[in-house]
Amino acid sequence: MKTKVFIMEEDKIDLEGVAYAANIIKQGGVVAFPTETVYGLGANALDPLAVKKIFEAKGRPQDNPLIVHVSDKNINNLVDNISSIANDLMEKFFPGPLTIILNKKDIIPDETSAGLKTIGIRMPSNEIARKLIEFSGVPIAAPSANISGRPSPTDVNRCLEDLNDRVECIIGGNNSNVGVESTIVDCTVEPPCVLRPGGITLEQLKQVYNDIYIDPSIMAKPSDDLKPKAPGMKYRHYAPKAPVKIIKGDLKKTIEKINEIVQNYIDNNKTVGIIATEETRQFYKNGYVVSLGSRNDMNKIAHNLFETLRSFDDKNVDVILSEAFDENGIGLAIMNRLNKSAGFHIINV
Ligand code: TXA
Ligand code: MG
Repeated sequence: MKTKVFIMEEDKIDLEGVAYAANIIKQGGVVAFPTETVYGLGANALDPLAVKKIFEAKGRPQDNPLIVHVSDKNINNLVDNISSIANDLMEKFFPGPLTIILNKKDIIPDETSAGLKTIGIRMPSNEIARKLIEFSGVPIAAPSANISGRPSPTDVNRCLEDLNDRVECIIGGNNSNVGVESTIVDCTVEPPCVLRPGGITLEQLKQVYNDIYIDPSIMAKPSDDLKPKAPGMKYRHYAPKAPVKIIKGDLKKTIEKINEIVQNYIDNNKTVGIIATEETRQFYKNGYVVSLGSRNDMNKIAHNLFETLRSFDDKNVDVILSEAFDENGIGLAIMNRLNKSAGFHIINV
C-alpha cells in the first residue's frame, strides 16, 4: 500500500492534511501521528476490524491491549466507575503523558482491550494528535508506531522506517518532546498502582494521591512469581538490533569497566556503541560514543534515549554498552526502558 505522508508543525497544523487522515480513521484505516511521548499508530478504537489492522501493521502480539486516545475529558461513554482519584489525576494531568486504566464499557470491543475488562485512556497534549481525534469523531486506539519490539519512534523518519507502505497515512510533526511513553496508572484498584513509569513521575502522582505506588514487577526481570500487570511489559522491548549491556554503579568505576569491555571487543574485531553523557563522553577513547545529554537534565536524556538506541542500528555496531541512571523522577522511566532493551543484562561495578 502507498503511504500518504503529511509533514506539519504543532503550531502550524495543516488542517486539510489532518482532515484527510481523520477520514481514513473514519473509514476503518490506520494512521501514524505524533504525540508528546512517542509517535502513535492509530485506528478507530470502537471498530474491531480497524483495530486488527494495527496489530497486523506492527506485528504485535494479540494479547497486548491498546491505549484509547481521547480529545475530551468527558469519558463517561467509554468507561464505568470513575473513582475520585481517577478524576483528580485527569484534572491534573490530562492532556499529558498519563494513561489511566479504568473499567471499560461494552462499546469498546475486546479486540481493543485484548480481552481485558479494563481499558487505558489517555488524552495527549500534542495539538496535532488531539485535532486528529477531534476530526475523526471517535476515540483512537494507538500503540507506539514501531514494529513490535523495536524502540518507539520519536520522529517521523523513524516512523517511516518502520511503517512506510504498511499503513495508509503518516502525519509528521515536531519530534516527540518527552521521548518515553506515558505513565500508566491502574485506577481500578485502591490505592492506584503504576504499571509503567513514563512522562509523569511518581513524585508528581504522589502530589495528587500519596498512596499511589509502583508495581514491584516493573524494575525486575519478569519471572513466574513477578508477572507485570501490563501485558506489554512482559515482552522484550525497546530493542535495537545489537545486544545492550548496562554498566551500573559508581560513575568512575563504570567508565573504567566500559573501557575495559570495549577493549576486549575491539581485540576481537567487534564494533561497540557506547551510551554516555556530557559528563563522561571525553573518557571513552574507542567505540562509537553517543551522549544522551547532561546528567543534570534528565528530561533531555529521556528525550534522546529511543533515537540514540535506534542510531546504533544505522551504525551496525555489534554490541551497545550503556551507563546507568538514578531511578528518581523521569530516571525511573529511563532505567525501565534501558533495562528492557538490555533484557536485564546488567553488569554491577
Ligand atoms: O505514550 C504512550 O502511551 C504511547 C503513545 C502513542 O500514546 N502509546 C503506547 O502504547 O505506549 P503501547 O501500546 O506501545 O503501550 C501500551 C502499554 C502496553 O504495555 C500494554 O500492555 C499496556 O499499555 N496496557 C494497555 N491497556 C492495558 C490494560 N487495560 N491493563 C494493563 N495494561 C494495559
Ligand atoms: Mg510500545
